[in-house]
Amino acid sequence: MTTLATIRSYLEQQQAQFDEELKRLLPSEDAYPESIHRAMRYSIFAGGKRLRPLLALEAARLFGRECRDVVRLGCAVEMIHVYSLIHDDLPALDNDDLRRGKPTSHRVFGEAAAILAGDALVTLAFEVLAGSDPDETGGAADQVPASARLRVIRELSHAIGTCGGLLGGQVVDLESTRCVPDARTLEYIHSAKTGALIRAAVRCGAIYAQAPEEDVGRVSVYGAKIGLAFQIVDDLLDVLGSQAELGKTVGKDDRQQKATYPAIHGIEASQRMAFQLVEGACEVLEPYGDRAHTLQSIAQYLLVRQN
Ligand code: IPE
Ligand code: IPE
Ligand code: MG
Ligand code: MG
Ligand code: MG
Repeated sequence: MTTLATIRSYLEQQQAQFDEELKRLLPSEDAYPESIHRAMRYSIFAGGKRLRPLLALEAARLFGRECRDVVRLGCAVEMIHVYSLIHDDLPALDNDDLRRGKPTSHRVFGEAAAILAGDALVTLAFEVLAGSDPDETGGAADQVPASARLRVIRELSHAIGTCGGLLGGQVVDLESTRCVPDARTLEYIHSAKTGALIRAAVRCGAIYAQAPEEDVGRVSVYGAKIGLAFQIVDDLLDVLGSQAELGKTVGKDDRQQKATYPAIHGIEASQRMAFQLVEGACEVLEPYGDRAHTLQSIAQYLLVRQN
């Protein structure tokens, strides 16, 4: 039985490999034009759980693949995630001053630079996903096949797009502010703005491992369930969490009259829903027995996380 402390220290220990690769992949602070590279590195290295990269890595591990390409996939997913955070915090969106315990990008670098830093991160993510130049790597044997790479690029683009993806979710989130959406619309917002990228991270890990379609489908259900649970817990932490631990301003959803699970369903029902989603996610992976233990523990951890 994995204790909470064990899974937390496992998460921390796994972060280092992503941080090292991210340091290599991002242009250095003295590369011209320096200002944008400083802003990109500021937000990437401001902290962060690196949950999405780990999910991609663990999904690939479940199907027996572990290589540098999978770590790079995780880094690309993190770049996309950080782009979404920088833009989410902008004055025109959530207008937040604090992220990962530090002033938000636009507070430090100004709004124009923050917009461009977000754009730059999402652009770099797709350059990384396209893979290294074969002339430079000598066509390295452990590289993921081009067909898997292409599929992952398509899946991730869709997951952050407007049709059920991150951008679609953000649009309906903004349009639902100060009016009370029905439960179905709320589920759409959360599954799209947050769930879609989390689901894509595990799917893409499985695709890089060239898992059979049935397995990709199974981890996909796991990803969708924990993705929705993740945003429900994010809403709950905005009500119940502490700013010091979260590294974000608390109570802002209520002040901005955001469409959240606690606002629509109440705190206890939201907690119950998140619990049921995580239970369902763990159940889907039962056919893998002990091999699924880490992904199941990560799912359980999401219910008790404090940041
Ligand atoms: C925050 O995501 C934004 C949401 C999608 C709710 P995380 O809670 O994973 O943020 P970091 O990466 O750890 O800062
Ligand atoms: C964020 O939802 C979703 C994305 C960044 C796409 P929130 O607006 O609730 O996230 P936080 O609370 O600012 O991290
Ligand atoms: Mg938001
Ligand atoms: Mg926000
Ligand atoms: Mg939130």
